[in-house]
Amino acid sequence: MKKNITIAIDGPAAAGKSTVAKAIAKKFNFLYIDTGAMYRAYTYYVLKKGINPKNEAESIKLISEINIVLLNDGRVLVNEEDVTKAIREINVSSFVSYIASYKDVRLALVSLQRKMAENTSVIMDGRDIGTYVLPNADVKIFMIASKEERAKRRYLENIDKHISCTYEDILFDVQERDRIDSSRAFCPLKAAEDSIQVDTSSMSIQEVVDYVSKIIIEKTHIKL
Ligand code: DC
Repeated sequence: MKKNITIAIDGPAAAGKSTVAKAIAKKFNFLYIDTGAMYRAYTYYVLKKGINPKNEAESIKLISEINIVLLNDGRVLVNEEDVTKAIREINVSSFVSYIASYKDVRLALVSLQRKMAENTSVIMDGRDIGTYVLPNADVKIFMIASKEERAKRRYLENIDKHISCTYEDILFDVQERDRIDSSRAFCPLKAAEDSIQVDTSSMSIQEVVDYVSKIIIEKTHIKL
């Protein structure tokens, strides 16, 4: 039987992980799992319920009533509501790192992520995929870029999606999230020891996709 392949892509906010992971998923016919979207969906629901996301005890009470679904076409559902666009808004972005720091939320979402990766080849992006979610991944990439470049890319992406924002707000958000994501106690943003670092600051998306594809082929001997 053919072995399923698992690819972990980690790195700080807006380093290009999801764009690259989506393109690779399409190229190799892997399932793409956007774990950040799951933490964002949880945050959206906390805000919708009128709960302060900085309140851990209140926020984790929702674990049993929240059902997050990632559809194959990229849509994200929370209790059947389509939140695909809403989870990219700046209010969700600015609170998501608090929600992602709660151990109980992480354990619930990690269990879902591992289940999704059980019987198929996957490329999963996030912060703790190589270190915690899929420690035996065949390939681990840690993607970085300068904070200015990351903020510029995310700003242009939002404008393209008609999500209102300013470059300054995005730069602040990206730095704040990196600070909180890297300093949390449980599963912080960190490169796995056996990961390959890719600095995308001066690379085009296509260059990164080609580079990472080459690594995947070398490491897994997969045929296109
Ligand atoms: O990848 P993203 O920007 O959509 O992720 C949103 C937030 O979720 C990010 O600030 C940190 C958190 N996150 C996490 O803690 N662990 C993951 N595996 C994925 C995301």
